[in-house]
Amino acid sequence: MVVDGCPPRLPLTEADIQRQLDRRRPGQSHLTTDRNEADTVTILSGTENGLTLGTPIALLVPNKDHRPGDYASLKKVPRPSHADYTYQIKYGIRASSGGGRSSARETIGRVAAGAVAEKFLRERFGVEIVAWVSSVGEVDAPEINVAFIDRATVDLSDVRCPHAESAERMTAEIVQVKAAKDSMGGVIACVCRNVPAGLGEPVFGKAEALLAQAMLSIPATKGFEIGSGFAGARMRGSAHNDPFVPKDGRLGTLTNRSGGVQGGITNGEPIVFRVAFKPPATIGQAQDSVDFDGEPVTLEAGGRHDPCVVPRAVPIVESMTAMVLADLALIQSLRR
Ligand SMILES: Cc1cc2nc3c(=O)[nH]c(=O)nc-3n(C[C@H](O)[C@H](O)[C@H](O)COP(=O)(O)O)c2cc1C
Repeated sequence: MVVDGCPPRLPLTEADIQRQLDRRRPGQSHLTTDRNEADTVTILSGTENGLTLGTPIALLVPNKDHRPGDYASLKKVPRPSHADYTYQIKYGIRASSGGGRSSARETIGRVAAGAVAEKFLRERFGVEIVAWVSSVGEVDAPEINVAFIDRATVDLSDVRCPHAESAERMTAEIVQVKAAKDSMGGVIACVCRNVPAGLGEPVFGKAEALLAQAMLSIPATKGFEIGSGFAGARMRGSAHNDPFVPKDGRLGTLTNRSGGVQGGITNGEPIVFRVAFKPPATIGQAQDSVDFDGEPVTLEAGGRHDPCVVPRAVPIVESMTAMVLADLALIQSLRR
């Protein structure tokens, strides 16, 4: 992947990027796909002596553990709820294994580039972005304190839920669903702290609109809500409004149902949002469907697949967030 537009003289080494790639990589625990990739990144250009040059940064992560033969049985059959049918209709041809560009393998680029954006945000503003798994299937973790949650706490469990009891129940669910050759969905919550007020462009480039677009571009996402989200639709204004209060020499808000964004512009409060992920489509269980010719088939997909994508999608959500905020910060820096 190539990251263009990164400011010069930013300290950046492979270690900054590798940390997040390790949290995304397949085969990291018994809750993910059994495919095992090291996903080791090399910086090919754009830095010298550990500093960015301001020129494009090229990053390379090789594939190692691929088995194209696993997909032979899928050649004539579009997987229900995957992208085989739509890619075929769009291009009249498609990659013969692993979903090609619709495979979540492409999210390596997002995570590597996001790590660069995150380094910029941290160095320049002290921004902290932390995502975690807030539900898996029907198991909901209780609300957590977004002021203190950190990645070390999130990573205490393989499922990446910081509430230990919920993490255990989520783990049991995923283990069960994997054994049953089925899959399940979940929700990732995310907080961004120390984001300067004033980021986000009126009308079409609103901070929450760009975050929603970024999140819904992640494979397998089905929903996005910021602040009070859909629950806000059930409330009255008198209960929903966030009263202003003096805070550290500026105006802050007492509550944060806005989720840190008002009028599409960050207000200096933590940005808080949630992203819903569906159960991944490729399952080993027998499914009745039809092949590309419309003939009935019973599909039992082979290959190695994630029973639930949310544990691995946590760094992807953080990375997409970092790219949106870094872009908005760079745009805002032109104004001052
Ligand atoms: C981290 C991650 C891992 C994924 N692993 C799988 C998988 O093993 N099998 C699968 O069918 N889909 C998997 N997906 C989802 C597919 O990439 C996605 O469903 C597909 O591209 C179709 O796009 P859509 O679901 O957004 O419509 C994964 C997604 C993410 C974010």
